[in-house]
Amino acid sequence: MTEIFDEIINRKNTGSEKWDKVDDLFGGENLLPLWVADMDFRTPPEVIDALSQKAAHGIFGYTSYMDSTYSSAINWFSRRHGWRIEKEWILFSPGVVPAINILIQTFTNLCDGIIIQRPVYHPFARVIENNGRKVLNNPLRQNKNGNYEIDFDHLRKQAQKPAAKMMLLCTPHNPVGRVWRADELKEIIKICSDNNILIVSDEIHCDLVFSGHKHIPLHTIADGYTDNIITCTAPSKTFNLAGVQVSNIIVPDEEKRNKLRNSLMKAGMLDPNSFATVAMEAAYNHGEQWLDNLLNYINGNFEFLKNFTSENLSDAKVTDLQGTYLAWVDFRKYNLSTKELDDLFVKKAGVAPSPGYIFGPEGAGFTRFNLACPKSVLENGLKRIAEAFRNLK
Ligand SMILES: Cc1ncc(COP(=O)(O)O)c(C=O)c1O
Repeated sequence: MTEIFDEIINRKNTGSEKWDKVDDLFGGENLLPLWVADMDFRTPPEVIDALSQKAAHGIFGYTSYMDSTYSSAINWFSRRHGWRIEKEWILFSPGVVPAINILIQTFTNLCDGIIIQRPVYHPFARVIENNGRKVLNNPLRQNKNGNYEIDFDHLRKQAQKPAAKMMLLCTPHNPVGRVWRADELKEIIKICSDNNILIVSDEIHCDLVFSGHKHIPLHTIADGYTDNIITCTAPSKTFNLAGVQVSNIIVPDEEKRNKLRNSLMKAGMLDPNSFATVAMEAAYNHGEQWLDNLLNYINGNFEFLKNFTSENLSDAKVTDLQGTYLAWVDFRKYNLSTKELDDLFVKKAGVAPSPGYIFGPEGAGFTRFNLACPKSVLENGLKRIAEAFRNLK
């Protein structure tokens, strides 16, 4: 059932950011894009059918969530994650990044500090700074196996700073691929609750978790602190719907929810587009088997990357992938500057993965590879990279 993911689908000249912007952004020609986090796979057939029916209906007036829209998300989180979400807690947003912007504007003030853990999804720092807030970084640490851990002593110090008001948690964590364990999440909650820090938990990658690991929605283990946790979720990474622009902000506390609804209204962001609700319902109601097949396929691509790297790029170290479809590879042993590494990928190999330093200076010397493409595409990119490294010598 994973053969569908082998199909190569031309995305050039479709307005795809990944394919149509890559040459300009990376300064190359005909680059093979392995960067931004969307997939080169079609969304599940049930979603395509539902969207086609909607298109054929032909009327695209103002749209709102119906009971069936709420229940698709509620049932999904209950089935897949054991999380019972109340309908009232759910607010629509066109995306998680827009949601994070509005959350920062609504619940913090100018110059307040917001904790993030670099290397992390780069818009976190940008959104904080664009809004005139300050980044309080708690860098992740690598253990002796190269896996990433949270530095809780440093997190406590950051949380104790008078300016600290919010923590933006990435769970699972892009780009290092960690799925945080319950004990780690509980310690974060403890530190934040001791210091009255509101937690915004970005769980956009929650469905993309590999066997042996389990995503734990932060809210489900927060006991007395649930009113101070706001969770961002979306079907967009899971089902390749980023361009449809649909996400949900889960806000259990009524006062916070009213405040947030007011901000969303002021920003003119309350209503979904006509395709958003249709896509989300179809994906959450019918996409489960497709997702299980996808996870198998991505896991296969990751195994391929690991084996290929150990045979052909033996000085590169692939970080364990617990969640997300983004592999994090350490090239520091090659002793190249960030410019040399960029040039090697773009100018010599003709591929465009994400340079690690965009996720914070802690990512320098690392590269993030998007595994959500046909295996033959990944193989092609990796072969070109191996060749470019061979020519270095
Ligand atoms: C952690 C994280 N949050 C948010 C997003 C983007 O969310 P959206 O497209 O809904 O704004 C991404 C995309 O890669 C992500 O990795």
